[in-house]
Amino acid sequence: ELIRVERTDKKKNKPEQGKLGFGKHFTDHMFIMNYTDGRGWHDPRVIPYQPIALDPAAKVFHYGQTIFEGLKAYRTDDGRILLFRPQLNFERMNRSNERLGVPDVDGEIAIEALRKLIEVDRDWIPSEEGTSLYIRPFVIATEPELGVSPSLEYQFIIIMSPVGAYYPEGVNPVKIYVECDYVRAVRGGVGEAKTAGNYAGGLKAQELAKAKGYTQVLWLDGVQRKYIEEVGSMNVFFKLEGKVHTPILNGSILAGITRRSIIELLRHWNIEVVERAITIEELYEAGRDGRLEEAFGTGTAAVISPIGELNWQDDPLVINGGKTGELSAKLYDTLTGIQQGRIADPFGWMVEA
Ligand code: COI
Repeated sequence: ELIRVERTDKKKNKPEQGKLGFGKHFTDHMFIMNYTDGRGWHDPRVIPYQPIALDPAAKVFHYGQTIFEGLKAYRTDDGRILLFRPQLNFERMNRSNERLGVPDVDGEIAIEALRKLIEVDRDWIPSEEGTSLYIRPFVIATEPELGVSPSLEYQFIIIMSPVGAYYPEGVNPVKIYVECDYVRAVRGGVGEAKTAGNYAGGLKAQELAKAKGYTQVLWLDGVQRKYIEEVGSMNVFFKLEGKVHTPILNGSILAGITRRSIIELLRHWNIEVVERAITIEELYEAGRDGRLEEAFGTGTAAVISPIGELNWQDDPLVINGGKTGELSAKLYDTLTGIQQGRIADPFGWMVEA
């Protein structure tokens, strides 16, 4: 089905590139397509960015049947527009859909929709170092019915936001509180899916940590509060005696695309990466006897976020003197360099929009 395009005649003023922050400004247009039981996905269209009217009984409001994705587009110095591994986002989107009882969205159609939207709003892609266009595809259950059952109607929407750094700290190290009461996810739950409830469920711990002076929390496993899972909304890595360790995907951890890319990049550099269960106790021991060299989070929004200090049970642990590690900095520079088209992309990760 052809994508219909309705352009706005009221274009917004674009924000200054140096003051973007994260997810505060939105482009002039959005993509939307509807799903109706029996008919499938239909009416794909790019329309002026606008509020959506939904019945207050729409299932998304009551039972959280919704999933989202996040990826970025970059404008290169020579004016090309590049997307970072978009197929992986739409593959993951369908794994999330499957877990939440949401119908599949054809990956080819999703990429075509994204290309059309980017074409219409291409002027919105910032080009300064550290900026990009953050793309937020999502699906919501819109059937107005309060029975707890999969919705028979959905909307697939893409909105886009020019962004700078996710954390005000930028690529400077953040202080992290190790959360021992609340958990993010459990094996068999929805931790692997990119669904709203995982993020809503994390807010309380995040706010408590903030009140204590920490930027984010380190999540431990839901059963024993022993194994390290994620940091804030990011995957987490540790450099121990020259090797890089990261929690193995165990069913409650989100399979980050930045996580996967960092692993591939490290292996390309012949640095050993170990995916395994890591306890907070052994991490502290390694920190105490000088074997823990660096720690960092990875995600689409912040790319790499070094961890300068942890606090577990009122026991602070400073990592690498609270400074950004050499490897963390090299990973950040290389990955963002590839993404911005400033350095060669030996992996074929970047796709022209
Ligand atoms: C990330 O990109 O690291 C995310 O988890 C997305 C975040 C804005 C929810």
